[in-house]
Amino acid sequence: MKVLLTRKLHDFALKELKRKYDVEVHTGKIPMPKKLLISKIKDKDGLICYPYDSIDAEVINAGTRLKAISTYSVGHDHIDVKAASKRGIVVGYTPEVLTRATADLTMALMLSLFRRIPEGDRLVHSNKWRTIFGPYEFLGTDLYQKTLGIFGMGRIGKAVAKRAAGFEMKVIYHNRTRLPKNEEEKLGVRYVTLDNLFRTSDVLSIHSPYTPQTSEIVNLKLFNKMKKTSFLINTSRGKIINEKDLVIALKRKIIAGAALDVFQKEPISSKHQITQLDNVILMPHSGSATIETRKKMAEIAVKNLVLALAGKKPIYQVKV
Ligand code: DGY
Repeated sequence: MKVLLTRKLHDFALKELKRKYDVEVHTGKIPMPKKLLISKIKDKDGLICYPYDSIDAEVINAGTRLKAISTYSVGHDHIDVKAASKRGIVVGYTPEVLTRATADLTMALMLSLFRRIPEGDRLVHSNKWRTIFGPYEFLGTDLYQKTLGIFGMGRIGKAVAKRAAGFEMKVIYHNRTRLPKNEEEKLGVRYVTLDNLFRTSDVLSIHSPYTPQTSEIVNLKLFNKMKKTSFLINTSRGKIINEKDLVIALKRKIIAGAALDVFQKEPISSKHQITQLDNVILMPHSGSATIETRKKMAEIAVKNLVLALAGKKPIYQVKV
């Protein structure tokens, strides 16, 4: 069987794939240009792709022999899963293994916002540190007893809630479906309406998947409900936020600041207005970017593909 990778994976993963299949790895421009992807997928049985590859119906249908798609990500909004399912193509993904890393990064961003870490670092590095340890100089805010609002209470949202409990924060959440009472109690979280979530949170963190329903759901209307002192964090998908509205909210100080790991278009252009603002922390889509996690993701991505190509159920299969 023939397998296409839109980019290199870990050596151990490539070795494993090469033992079993005729493997082609794209080494050129990233993401793989669509025309090239379409031409390369024609004779392939399996595909390993990344979250920035657009695996739409046209690509899927060009793969006339395609049996399995395995994405090196938990997000699968870049794959037309319905088109794949119509053709009987199995889609695998890599949840669970990246939950902790993404929740950790969320907390790192939260601490960075509350304690002004990037700003302090810039201050010292640029030799602008003048006054020492005063009552009003370079103050941040405590996480203790602040309200964290979680939008999307799936695996990652829950992992963030657990971490926030360690900082003695109050946690509220909004989700499509409410958690069972006993789970809410165990996590120490309280369900609120979307409106309430935005009005009450001192820091609001997005952990929802990108779907037509969540597309730009976070916009000026919701920013206007937020406290002037509140922060926004997004480690989920950029398209959940209306970025133009966020720039307005940050410029007009409708909210105090934001920390973003994901953007509408990645990599974000250095000309994008958001990159010119001081009250925003920007990261290059690194939620799952730890040595341990990316290795586990590779293991799962390979296992998913191997199982699906053998006609078996992958460890993690995207439901249609
Ligand atoms: C994913 O796996 O979807 C993440 O966004 C990658 O960090």
